[in-house]
Amino acid sequence: MNIGLMGFGVVGRGVYEIVSKREDMRITKVLCLEDISLPDAQAVKDYRQIVEDETIDTVVEAMGGLHPAYEFVRAALEAGKHVVTSNKALVCGFYDELLSLAREKGLRLRSTAAVGGGIGWLSELERSRRVQELTEVGGIMNGTCNYILDSMTRLGLDYGQALKQAQEKGYAEANPSTDVDGIDTWHKLILSMNVAFGVRVDKQTVPVSGIRNITAQDVAAFKAHGRVCKLISTGRRTEGGFTGYVQPTLVEAGSPEAAVPLNYNLITFLGRFSERMSFYGQGAGRYPTAYNVVQDLVDVLSGKGFYAPYGPAVQADNGQTLCYYVRGSWTGETTQDWGCGVITGPVAVGDMHAWLADHPDAFAAGLR
Ligand code: HSE
Repeated sequence: MNIGLMGFGVVGRGVYEIVSKREDMRITKVLCLEDISLPDAQAVKDYRQIVEDETIDTVVEAMGGLHPAYEFVRAALEAGKHVVTSNKALVCGFYDELLSLAREKGLRLRSTAAVGGGIGWLSELERSRRVQELTEVGGIMNGTCNYILDSMTRLGLDYGQALKQAQEKGYAEANPSTDVDGIDTWHKLILSMNVAFGVRVDKQTVPVSGIRNITAQDVAAFKAHGRVCKLISTGRRTEGGFTGYVQPTLVEAGSPEAAVPLNYNLITFLGRFSERMSFYGQGAGRYPTAYNVVQDLVDVLSGKGFYAPYGPAVQADNGQTLCYYVRGSWTGETTQDWGCGVITGPVAVGDMHAWLADHPDAFAAGLR
């Protein structure tokens, strides 16, 4: 396998190092805008030097972001190259288009590192759905948010201090609002739902709220009531279809989710036979993420394509009701007062997210 590697940042360098120790594949060209010199690969600055190179059969995209990653990956598929990417924004944003193109061209497209970093999550969903119907997917999918919430809960840091540390440790996306506003988790949930349920979820029907407004006072109130706040994604089959949403969630202090430290992820699926299966590990970072990119390369070598068939388009229904902790000018029914915030009566998930959109300074967390 001759590989063209696009991107030589945190993940790209990790992929380069792991691949260079293998006999079954080699990276022959690396796209990097900086001047680099590599012992066994040519550094190039123009993506066409990879896409138009007939000796390259597989492209690894490790640049991140939507553009120009989309244009480069599309060009690689059009040129007949298999693609492995760690880019969740890309695969989620252009799911239909990239999958159709890969199918049409008979090419393999894989993106295991896009959800859960080093956890073999999408590849395990692929295996699981061969044997059973999956009914639920979700959990803690963003290392940066978990690091922030864990630091606030265990160490008593305030939000700004905790975010700064997560950025210094290199967990956060280039634009950390992608993490703290839940967008990164939203991409990962939609991709997981598509693979697990064999559908194409309409992204606009999956609401998302993040953690940017959480305060040290909120966290102290949660502690006093035996709860821990985590950013949790939920995707579930319902009687008539599907529900999907991302939101801060107050889990019981003794639950597995509450115990997840630092930047770790804990992702779970529920299946008819397996019941609950949880996967815990490094959701970000150079070598864990690169590890899953290389796993995908081995799968491409053995002929594996995308994880699930190209399924029907579906919309998520968010009529399910939950009680929420709310800090802000909530005028609906309340059942308890936690000092700086209140506990609401049951509210439809979609309605709470609509209320939050109208109250940008408020903070709400669903009770689980
Ligand atoms: N910013 C992401 C996270 C990186 O914190 O989980 C891995 O997707």
